[in-house]
Amino acid sequence: MPDTRLADGLHTIEKNHGALLTLCQRLEDLADSLPFSVDEALCREVAADIVPLLSQAQAVEEDTLYPELTARAGSCFSALMIERLKGEHRCDRSGAEEIALTLQAMLAGRCRLSFETVGYMLRGFFECVRRHIASERELINSLYQPTLHS
Ligand SMILES: [Fe+2]
Repeated sequence: MPDTRLADGLHTIEKNHGALLTLCQRLEDLADSLPFSVDEALCREVAADIVPLLSQAQAVEEDTLYPELTARAGSCFSALMIERLKGEHRCDRSGAEEIALTLQAMLAGRCRLSFETVGYMLRGFFECVRRHIASERELINSLYQPTLHS
């Protein structure tokens, strides 16, 4: 059973995952609305929220979850898995920064990318984030489900 500090961390991670999945849904709504029905308020909100939300969620995972997973699993495979997840964090963070800049440029009417390209960028991002969250949830469940390990 996780200790109190870890339990708090896992609770925060669960909340963060929920917030990120909401962000993914907002990005999907934006992608679906291109090019003629874009909700500018939603666009502005997502542009402002995407980087801080993702960075904060990733920092909690890297400070709390990943060291714990490494210690508990303690295998070469788990070390490789954590490195892969960290690599996805870096990739997602740079994707989030690019999306924030692109949405800000769209709002200012100075985006040089086609709407197809913007849609592709948004879909690529939220699909990766959804897949990443699914992987982390599987890892957490496999290590901390009391029914599996009691
Ligand atoms: Fe993550």
